[in-house]
Amino acid sequence: MDSTELDRNAAAMVAPGKGILAADESTGTIKKRFDKIALESSFESRRAYRELLFTAAEAERHISGVILYDETIRQQAADGRPFPALLASRGILPGIKVDAGAKALAGFPGETVTEGLDGLRERLAEYRALGARFSKWRAVIDIGAAIPTPTALEANAEALARYAALCQEAAIVPIVEPEVLMDGDHTIERCEEVTDATLETVFDALFRHRVRLEGMVLKPNMVIAGKKCPKQAKPQQVAEATVRCLRRRVPGAVPGIAFLSGGQSEAEATLHLSLMNRVRELPWQLSFSYGRALQQSTLEAWRGNPGNVAAAQRVFLRRAKLNGLARDGSYEAAMEQAAA
Ligand code: 13P
Repeated sequence: MDSTELDRNAAAMVAPGKGILAADESTGTIKKRFDKIALESSFESRRAYRELLFTAAEAERHISGVILYDETIRQQAADGRPFPALLASRGILPGIKVDAGAKALAGFPGETVTEGLDGLRERLAEYRALGARFSKWRAVIDIGAAIPTPTALEANAEALARYAALCQEAAIVPIVEPEVLMDGDHTIERCEEVTDATLETVFDALFRHRVRLEGMVLKPNMVIAGKKCPKQAKPQQVAEATVRCLRRRVPGAVPGIAFLSGGQSEAEATLHLSLMNRVRELPWQLSFSYGRALQQSTLEAWRGNPGNVAAAQRVFLRRAKLNGLARDGSYEAAMEQAAA
């Protein structure tokens, strides 16, 4: 294992002022996103959309890396350049989603375990040859009356740790993503309790599997009330609860934490990140690895129309820039109107 390269790339992924674009929607998920703009999902429409994102001028000022899907890492821009090479030429690290999705955990109704470990060593070698320098594996933890169970947390943590160890063996930085869902009507306190238990279990497994903390990036949920909870927490409360929870559970050797947006609006996700970055003396970088919160307005501006590409790229750049500002706490909610 080349720990120097791993550590260097992990630090680059969470470099100040920048964050990660999650453009790794599976074929099923991107179809759902395209359905909302009444666009047919095809090999070509998916390619055209990713080209729009990856060629947006100046994006490299705010975007450190892009997570790709298996189909996308093999696709090319209209001028024939493979997407990973195009990104690398702009100083953006190409990444790859390697999990095979969350599947029902036998014996545990309502809970899942993420699959994809079989053959992973060989797939990582291929992805590395295709240009991937980091990867992502997402575990999904749902909150309910009697879930999550310790067994589901442990099964998911074990898979995350085995994945992370295999990535580091292949000189690929693992993004370790345990996502506690914001679906449901749970309170922010319940989210904090479950996120705390999840992170404790995940870091315990990472230690046992000898994962090098300096060469990984954590991608957690923010601590936030469930979407259907009648008592929604204020942005400052979300920021404080999230930082408190992470401080208790994430060792300072981890270079950075890149949040998922998980169903928050673009403005909410940016504001929460900015507020968190106003907290002083954090041991790690606090960054973003947003999917929906970086793409929603871009998709709406594009709508599959080639004539809208330039306008959609401007929308994307603006969103990336606002999140870049949130990296040091200098984003203000009022900028949404000002920059519109
Ligand atoms: P969202 O930001 O849309 O939650 O997506 C991030 C991601 O990569 C989830 O795995």
